[in-house]
Amino acid sequence: MGPRRIKLGVLADVPEGGAVGLAPSGNDDKVIALKRGDKLFLWENDCPHNHRPLELKRHHFLSPGGAHITCFAHSAHFSPETGLCFAGPCAGQSLTAVPFSVIDGEIWAEI
Ligand code: FES
Repeated sequence: MGPRRIKLGVLADVPEGGAVGLAPSGNDDKVIALKRGDKLFLWENDCPHNHRPLELKRHHFLSPGGAHITCFAHSAHFSPETGLCFAGPCAGQSLTAVPFSVIDGEIWAEI
């Protein structure tokens, strides 16, 4: 079976400069959504270091000040725009992008 196309939410729920979790699964969200300017970025909530969710508390994905995505477990830092880990135990590795489209303000993804 290939990926499923599912509605994750609406664009208006993703705060400019912030981050939210989408696609709840148990106690975690499967997807991290960020808006920077007019661009939306979706990453799998799966740290390349130990393959675990990044956040300590729901929707808390960003460093103080909001410039970077961080993994609370061992403090890996990622670029919101490229997903690249530039500091921490998985430096040089990347978050996995979630393919998506925005249709009439709704976020649809293949997961
Ligand atoms: S599991 Fe994310 S930095 Fe170790």
